[in-house]
Amino acid sequence: MVISVKDSTPQPTRLADYQPYPFRIEKTDLTFRLDPKATRVLSRIRFHPNPARPGRHDLRMDGERLRLIAARIDGAPVTARPDETGLTIPADALPDGAFDFEAEVEIDPSANTALEGLYMSGGMYCTQCEAEGFRRITFYPDRPDVMAPFHVRIESDMPVLLSNGNPVAQGEGWAEWDDPWPKPSYLFALVAGDLVAVRDSFTTRSGRKVDLAIWVRAGDEDRCAYAMDSLKRAMKWDEDVYGREYDLDVFNIVAVDDFNMGAMENKGLNIFNSKLVLASPETATDADFERIESVIAHEYFHNWTGNRITCRDWFQLCLKEGLTVFRDQEFTKDMRSAPVKRIEDVLMLRARQFREDMGPLAHPVRPESYIEINNFYTATVYEKGAELIGMLKLLVGDEGYRRALDLYFERHDGQAATIEDWLKVFEDATGRDLAQFKRWYTDAGTPRLKVEEDWQPGDQGGTYTLTFTQHTPPTPGQDEKPPRVIPIAVGLLNPNGDEILPTTVLEMTEERQSFSFPGLATRPVPSILRGFSAPVVLERESSFDERTFLLAHDTDPFNRWEAGRSLARDVLLSMIRDDAAPSEPHAQALARLVTDDTLDPAFRALCLRLPSEDDLAQALADAGTTPEPERIHTVREGLATYLARQLQKDLVRIYEEMETPPPYSPDAASAGRRALRLAALGYLNRIDHGARAASLFASADNMTESAAALACLIDGGRGAREIAAFYERWKDNRLVIDKWFALQVAHAQPDMAAQVAARLAEHPDFEWKNPNRFRALMGALAANHAGFHHISGAAYRFYADWLIRLDPVNPQTTARMSAAFETWTRYDAERRAMIRAELGRIRQTPDLSRDTFEMVSRILA
Ligand code: ARG
Ligand code: ZN
Repeated sequence: MVISVKDSTPQPTRLADYQPYPFRIEKTDLTFRLDPKATRVLSRIRFHPNPARPGRHDLRMDGERLRLIAARIDGAPVTARPDETGLTIPADALPDGAFDFEAEVEIDPSANTALEGLYMSGGMYCTQCEAEGFRRITFYPDRPDVMAPFHVRIESDMPVLLSNGNPVAQGEGWAEWDDPWPKPSYLFALVAGDLVAVRDSFTTRSGRKVDLAIWVRAGDEDRCAYAMDSLKRAMKWDEDVYGREYDLDVFNIVAVDDFNMGAMENKGLNIFNSKLVLASPETATDADFERIESVIAHEYFHNWTGNRITCRDWFQLCLKEGLTVFRDQEFTKDMRSAPVKRIEDVLMLRARQFREDMGPLAHPVRPESYIEINNFYTATVYEKGAELIGMLKLLVGDEGYRRALDLYFERHDGQAATIEDWLKVFEDATGRDLAQFKRWYTDAGTPRLKVEEDWQPGDQGGTYTLTFTQHTPPTPGQDEKPPRVIPIAVGLLNPNGDEILPTTVLEMTEERQSFSFPGLATRPVPSILRGFSAPVVLERESSFDERTFLLAHDTDPFNRWEAGRSLARDVLLSMIRDDAAPSEPHAQALARLVTDDTLDPAFRALCLRLPSEDDLAQALADAGTTPEPERIHTVREGLATYLARQLQKDLVRIYEEMETPPPYSPDAASAGRRALRLAALGYLNRIDHGARAASLFASADNMTESAAALACLIDGGRGAREIAAFYERWKDNRLVIDKWFALQVAHAQPDMAAQVAARLAEHPDFEWKNPNRFRALMGALAANHAGFHHISGAAYRFYADWLIRLDPVNPQTTARMSAAFETWTRYDAERRAMIRAELGRIRQTPDLSRDTFEMVSRILA
């Protein structure tokens, strides 16, 4: 059979096809003559033949949307005609040995709405090059394994001119920067604008004084203190915990308003979405402060895990991202509460990564092929990637981990490495064989772990046996899933609540495996998968009593929380499926927990949070029941109202006692008290007719409380006046207005969500080309589970209309947001048909981007 493929059908790139680049680069020199519509980029690149690819090779460079003005080899003009994706200089036009390639190209930053390459944001120039944005700046081997020191000259009348590395010289209308550390093009950055700096400094442990600066627009200086403080703590932590020191004289951070993602670790010049830098008590919530701290740390940590050691190719993305997420998670644990952070991370992992892993977009932590690499900056690569590091650390122990990391930095500094290199340092440093562990990187899907128990009394004491069976359901393109090594942390309690086996890691390597614990006086109660020691779904029937027992006695805070979580989930599932009544014992157990003053308020706040509607839909689908979004919504609301009544007295007391005295402070303890107080408010709001929320909104001096109060008012179908007042007060602050859009849509009643979103999309402030604004509105709609899946199909249609509109402007954000549809196969035939029609409509759009084409095709497959 002959299958004819349309020429324009995007073709995948495959890991198996990797070949080293035929040339190495000794030095890259760039000159930028900045102009909004016609920027000239002059490059001089010193190439050497790469001994890893003997023979003569054409010089092929990537380049997109570039107007080539001139090209020279060793000073002599060459006539080269670029194609759609780059430029080729035939081997016979190249000298033997080393040579200089020079080019002059023209680009148009003002027309760059995709926000990849060099673009304009609010009158300033900035860049985003990861993953493949540099090819929109000049012709270059735009791949991470080609590393070079860069020298950059910027010519512009903008007052502030920044690039990577150290500043070397500057004058009226120009500046030069030199980055001595070889780097791939994706870490290149340039910023030019009318900016002001908030400055500080950090002295490294070997005595290097580093000038720190956060660059923002005039007027935003007073919202940088928290980011700066986070940066200094991150620098210190990386020295203390990983022995990693900073390696340049300056470290610059720039905040930009138009940015496709969170932030970017460009060497010495991190570029941030302004929402991850700017914060004051009045404008940012506790969650924003925590996120700023962790992303500032994340990007800083990339200086070693990402920049000094980078990825050989984009299939290895988790090498830097999984590791760096793991590092930022550990940092947050040290700065705040470790158990609370672990629970938050697992909630996120389950909500985003399990969801991905169980649907049509499932892919391995190290994928094997892609059409558009930007589509693989996913929860699987990042968050599951981080879980794999955590498992490795558990398997080899803290000391083994430290030895392996030291070896990693020693052996691979300055290199572009692979997952094989990464695993090898663990093998060499610890003597372990990690062949089976590697499956975690290559095999997609979330393993299911079944548990059976056996108890045999005996004269020398009884023997308790746990038998585990693992099974990973097939994922797209991978039917067979051989067993993986799973570290299962367990503890045992005796019936009076004492721990008789402290946390012990069982290493499961087979499909089915038993572990016995002899010599026990009584049958114990097991606490399994403590700390969520592996990213698996634990399938275990356990009684209500056992879970309330663990909720009361488990010494492992994660499993204590997990016991309560699973109780709430089961109550909700039986209410949804069998019309059961809410459970009074569950309410009592919850009451005991949240009134236990010996427990951290932040932890208690997490215990009060019910599983989300999306979690419940996933749980139902998983158990073979088709989820009905409106029913899930009604039942969950019903349980919340029931709990509000049952726990009313306790909640009122909490609400009053947890008040934090002014002035506001974003520290973890204060944030925890607010979280508990606002969780109580969320319940009380259902029975006090909005009284507390209205008065809190009126008196709050910080965004955490204002936003929570406003959300409560909208939840209760009130708040029109407050919504207007909030807008009036904040209309000049883009980040707060993002919240204003998001809150109204996220908390709209299910049958109104699409209408509210449509009305807000008409608002003059709905600047849809700004990714933060687009995500605020559309992301909130997708997150309003019952609203998005309302049976009218209005939200599906509206959402698809906007994806189609955004795609030609910003493919990356469009593609990413199309994942809102990834769960479509869970639902009933009517909803499936509607979603399929919308996805089909998107896919049929003329000139659809590769990014969105790939996503929609995978979702539909
Ligand atoms: N490396 C950045 C970070 O995680 C994110 C870059 C995202 N790039 C992309 N094309 N989505 O810190
Ligand atoms: Zn990262």
